[in-house]
Amino acid sequence: MIRSAEQSDFEAMRETWCGVAFDPLHTARTLDGWLDVKLSGFLVSDGPSRKEFSACLDRYVVAERAGRLGGFLRLDDSQELQPETDVFWISPRQFKGLYEARPHASIGVLAVAQHAARQGVATEMLHEAEVRARAMGASHLFSFVVLCPIANYSSALFHLENGFERMAVTQPQKLFDIDDYQSTLYGKSLA
Ligand SMILES: CC(C)(COP(=O)(O)OP(=O)(O)OC[C@H]1O[C@@H](n2cnc3c(N)ncnc32)[C@H](O)[C@@H]1OP(=O)(O)O)[C@@H](O)C(=O)NCCC(=O)NCCS
Repeated sequence: MIRSAEQSDFEAMRETWCGVAFDPLHTARTLDGWLDVKLSGFLVSDGPSRKEFSACLDRYVVAERAGRLGGFLRLDDSQELQPETDVFWISPRQFKGLYEARPHASIGVLAVAQHAARQGVATEMLHEAEVRARAMGASHLFSFVVLCPIANYSSALFHLENGFERMAVTQPQKLFDIDDYQSTLYGKSLA
């Protein structure tokens, strides 16, 4: 079941987040660590506090599986790219304009609990996000996926499988305490 988030989802959301969080200073030091995060996906930031979660509750979509929280997605309405970020646009005239257009809709966070992986949970939440993004008046839905220092292959495959195309790659920068961090920007037409 897909539904809007409630305050009471915070603990389960945190548990899911911690289950897929990737600590670049430790996890990446072993070969198994690298393989695990490449194959199952990962989040690099710490996740929101209860206060931050409450403040943007209406932007979260959650999925339930067997009475438990199976995953969550946050839909953002502002561009995440900072003006100072160096970006390689695959089609500068087309994609840059689409990304900068308003209204804007992007997936700020997406995570599925390990117990619910590969059961279509992320796909269901994506469909709900697309409905909401269209209602916001957005023409496209955007999403960033980590490319370097470790490519998030499962997320990249998820996006490509669901009709997203590669629009840009950010040039190496220090982000989330990671040197040489790069991500790929994916975009999907909502037409
Ligand atoms: C990436 C993630 C969101 C996918 O969620 P999911 O619910 O397992 O995905 P779905 O079941 O909807 O998968 C849909 C399709 O995406 C692709 N896919 C998803 N996970 C994949 C994986 N680990 N390896 C290869 N392909 C994958 C497949 O084509 C899949 O279809 P199939 O199962 O019929 O082959 C999930 O693994 C996750 O939360 N990972 C940790 C956090 C993360 O990486 N978030 C994304 C940050 S950008």
